[in-house]
Amino acid sequence: MPKDAIGKRAEHVAIIMDGNGRWAKRRGLPRLAGHKRGVETVRRIVEACPDLGVKYLTLFAFSTENWKRSDDEIAGLMQLFRNYMAREAERLIGSDVRLRFLGARDGLPDDIIRMMEDLEGRTEDRTKFSLNIALNHGGRDEITRATRRIAQKVASGELKAEEITEDVMSAHLDSAGLPDPDLVIRTSGEYRISNFLLWQAAYAEYEFVDALWPDFSEAMLSDILNRFGTRERRFGTAVG
Ligand code: FPP
Repeated sequence: MPKDAIGKRAEHVAIIMDGNGRWAKRRGLPRLAGHKRGVETVRRIVEACPDLGVKYLTLFAFSTENWKRSDDEIAGLMQLFRNYMAREAERLIGSDVRLRFLGARDGLPDDIIRMMEDLEGRTEDRTKFSLNIALNHGGRDEITRATRRIAQKVASGELKAEEITEDVMSAHLDSAGLPDPDLVIRTSGEYRISNFLLWQAAYAEYEFVDALWPDFSEAMLSDILNRFGTRERRFGTAVG
């Protein structure tokens, strides 16, 4: 793969939106109040992206590990997703945005799956900006499900084992057809990738910011994107 020129833009940005709970706790509020503020940040950041040259934005909204949280918090988050899809996403449909959901559908409430499928179907021909929401996503789970589908094809004779390439793997992931993220951002000062886009982010640059997700701003994103433009991405090639 060629060495990337300095000054390149991050076309695909993926974000681990962390810190909603701490934002709420610091104010003596219930955790859900932090998630609600987090939705407002989602709205601001989504709107800012096209002007900043970002073509694909992937947001980690709910992980396969998040089912371990309290029933109340899970129910509250699911309700926020419903509201977001009913209001925000409907509004986005008028503005040339393609919506996709990454993650396992199994385990999600039926009405949420129907809303996701409806939005995906109604926006699949949009091209200006792509918003991907990782909901019930876990990198290992995604790779495992892809491997299972490939194994089924091999068992049925549709595919030969020696035909399994990296491209074949990519094409069986939830993100099939999306370019890999150039940049992964995590808020809240934690230095972990938490099972996010394990396959896709193999060559991504990482940025960790101290701000909690409800406090993350368009200006912070703009700074990060400018810094990305000064980084030299080598994809395994030699320095120099
Ligand atoms: C992590 O903060 C955040 C989440 C698990 C949920 C993210 C969800 C949203 C921002 C709202 C909805 C999103 C969309 C796309 C509609 P945390 O609770 O782990 O924070 P903590 O580490 O401070 O406890």
